[in-house]
Parts: sequence; structure tokens; C-alpha cells
Amino acid sequence: MKKVYIETLGCQMNKSDTEKMLGMLDYLGYEEVKELKNKDSADLLIINTCSIRQLSEDKAFSRTGLWGKWKKNRPNLKIAFCGCVAQQTGEAVFKRMPYIDLVMGTHNINEFPDLVKRIEAGEKVCAAGETLVDEKGFEIKRAKGVNAWITITEGCDNFCTYCVVPYTRGRERSRAPEVIIKEAKDILAQGFKEITLLGQNVDSYGKKGEYSDWNLARLLRELNALEGKFRIRFTTSYPTDITDELIDTVVKSGKICECFHIPMQSGSSDILKKMNRRYDKETYSKIVKKIRERVKDVTITSDFIAGFPGESEKQFQETLDVMKKLELDYSNTAAYSPREITIAAKWEELFLPEDIKSERLVRLNDQNKENCINSNKKYIGRELEVLVETFKNHKGKNILTGRTRNNKIVHIPHHENIVGEFVNVKIIGAKTWYLKGELNK
Ligand code: SAH
Ligand code: SF4
Ligand code: F3S
Repeated sequence: MKKVYIETLGCQMNKSDTEKMLGMLDYLGYEEVKELKNKDSADLLIINTCSIRQLSEDKAFSRTGLWGKWKKNRPNLKIAFCGCVAQQTGEAVFKRMPYIDLVMGTHNINEFPDLVKRIEAGEKVCAAGETLVDEKGFEIKRAKGVNAWITITEGCDNFCTYCVVPYTRGRERSRAPEVIIKEAKDILAQGFKEITLLGQNVDSYGKKGEYSDWNLARLLRELNALEGKFRIRFTTSYPTDITDELIDTVVKSGKICECFHIPMQSGSSDILKKMNRRYDKETYSKIVKKIRERVKDVTITSDFIAGFPGESEKQFQETLDVMKKLELDYSNTAAYSPREITIAAKWEELFLPEDIKSERLVRLNDQNKENCINSNKKYIGRELEVLVETFKNHKGKNILTGRTRNNKIVHIPHHENIVGEFVNVKIIGAKTWYLKGELNK
């Protein structure tokens, strides 16, 4: 069997694309190797890239540099450059890295088997077109484990002024409900215990295109009705697209977990406007409060950007204040990174110096840690259901790790490997990033 090594640098969408590619490669007779020791470890090397920030883009290029050196001594080695950076750079990649055999953007993923055959035959191929290639029904090769993802919406039409995703993933579209439900059934038949519905903006499921009598709430109810014990999650939510129907569905459906990931990005209404987000501080706060009132033990997480162009110290303070006030349980944080094609990248005169951005990011992270520990402490003494995901030996002790319904990570000392089981756990301690638990007999 031929061997493939694939490295994934991006978000869950990007990881999900990797699983798609692995499914197609399986059909082409490739076996995945997880470790890349030297030039002979695999016949095909793939990098699935991300361009959300400059740092992630730089990583894509630096990783492939080493692979190019290997190729000098092994000319048959094939190298593929895929994902969001590939979608944007297209053929220019060949100029920068002449040793690349295939450049494939996000729109062409369904052509992947044909593209691989062409590079196997010695061709150099670039497929990073503007038009989407339709799904062809290849089975996805999901990473073994407890959790599986299903993409429900692709692309994004929001055009937040800092963000490259609408340019790398194209226009927003919803996948057919019957295809999603079938994938869910297959996943459950394979023994997975948790399904996460993915999209840049899952709340707008069905809004555009042919499935307008569907929405996220209806899709969730259909999945909730499938047989068996399993959990359902969904991410990411756009604040103002969260409907009362969706909140009610989460409350009433036993399998849907009590979690909302609702990126706020900034606590300043003026900055939000400049980001082209369609809400202000008050609107976002109201939504969070409403969810907290209605959904017991809910976890609400967010994303924030420090140092957006023109952000004043006072406006940044508003971000810290709102994070604290709303008791957001966890937030992803990043310093603003200009992305060439986006609107905000043209506001150079408003860019903040690197040291100010980094210093604000440190304070954002400190506030985040404070929120996390406070959120975790609330659960000490409680008994919670945990889905066990891993069993590892840590410093001579066997430890199970799993997550509660509301997505808290729990470490539980235990002698036996019971990965994939639902267990009741007494929470006996709280750290910043996880809870400590004891198995209830
Ligand atoms: N669709 C999701 C976010 C997808 S991108 C949403 O609308 O919230 C993931 C996160 O990356 C964003 O929430 C944002 O916080 C961050 N991000 C995006 N572009 C960025 C940039 N240019 N600089 C820094 N962070 C960025
Ligand atoms: Fe990017 Fe905004 Fe779309 Fe999220 S909603 S992917 S931040 S453009
Ligand atoms: Fe995801 Fe990065 Fe692309 S965050 S959508 S892989 S730019």
C-alpha cells in the first residue's frame, strides 16, 4: 500500500476536510502514517493550510520547506499544498515552492481523487478555482474516537472586515438535510458517541438556497430523535442569528448539549461596527443573559481580538469589562493580524504597534483565565455526566479524560480503560483548564 502523511493546520472545518481527503485516499489505495520521520516515511505528503492569521500562513510555508529538501534525494515523493492558503495563492505557490506537485484550494476538494491520479502520473497541477466542485459521495475517513463532526454549512457571507474566511471558503451554503441525517446515522452505527455540527455560522442553516423550510432547530430535533445514547453539539453561532426556537430546542432535547459558542470579538460597540459585526455590546449581552436564564448549567464561550485597527485603550477596557460581567466561560483570543484581501487590512494608518497588541493580548488572556477558573469552581461538589474520551498513564497513574455535557474537561483517576462510556462523576476540584473528578460507583 502507498503511504500518505497529512498535516492539518486550521480549524475544525480544515480538520473535517482532512477526513474527507483521507476517505478518498483510502479509495485510491493509500494508508495514513501518523509519524513523519524522514523522506521515506510516506509517498505523498499533504499540508492542509489555514490563513486566518499571518502566523498560521507562515507555518504552512515553513513546514513544506523541509519536504522540498527531501525531494532532492527522492524525486518520486509527491507534495500537495491544500486548504485556505492554497485557495488564495493558487499558482503563485509553484513560484515560491517549485517542488510542490499539487495546489488544491477548498473549492476543489471533491475533485481530489482525480488530482492525485494526475500528480501520480507526473503532472504538476493547480486546482484553486472560484467555482465549487459538487460533492461526489465519497465516504469520509473519520479519525477514530468518540467524537465525529458533520459539516452542515460551508462558506460565509458575513464579511467581517478583519476576516479572510469569506474569501477562502466562498459563499455560504447549507448541505442537504437528508445527507446530514444519513451521515449522522452512519456515524452512530460506527460507534461514535458525540456528533458536532460544524459551520462558520450554523444558526443560518437553511436560510439561503433550497432548504428554506429547514433551520438549525429543526435539524437538531431530527438528529435528537435518532436512536441510541449519544450527544449533539453545534458550532459556531453568530450572536444575532440565535433564535428563541433554537434555545427552546436545546432546553427540550435530551441529546443536545448545553453549550453555545458565540464569538463577540470586541466589547466596544464602535469597534464592532468597524468590524462589520451586526450587533452592539447591549444586544450581545442581552442574548447571553437570555440563554443563561433559560438553559441550566449552560457554557457560553466566545472569541476576542485584541488590538483591532484604531482600538483605543478605553475601548479595549470595554472588552475586558464585558468578558468579566458576562462571565463568559472560556474565550479564544488573538492579536489582530492584517489579512491582505480584507477591508481592515487597508486601514494601515490605524494599525496599532505590535507591542501594544501583544500587551493587550496578555491582559485578555489573564481575564480569560480568571473567567475559566471561576466558571470551573461552580461545579465543585456537583455530580455530572462525563463522556470518557481518553485513557492515559500520567506520572505512573492511569487517568481518564472526558467532557461534561457543558464541555468541561474532567480528569478522573481510574484503573480501567472505559473510553466511549458515559459515567457519573463527582467533581472534587477545579483548575483553570479542567475539573478533577472521582468516579461514582
Ligand atoms: N465564524 C466564526 C469565526 C471563524 S474564524 C465567527 O464568526 O465568529 C475564528 C476566529 O478567528 C474569529 O472568531 C476571530 O476571533 C479570529 N480571527 C479571524 N480573523 C482574524 C484576524 N485577522 N486577526 C486575528 N484574529 C482573527
Ligand atoms: Fe469570518 Fe465573520 Fe464569517 Fe466568522 S462570520 S467566518 S469572523 S467573516
Ligand atoms: Fe479554518 Fe483557517 Fe480556513 S480558520 S476556514 S482553516 S482560514
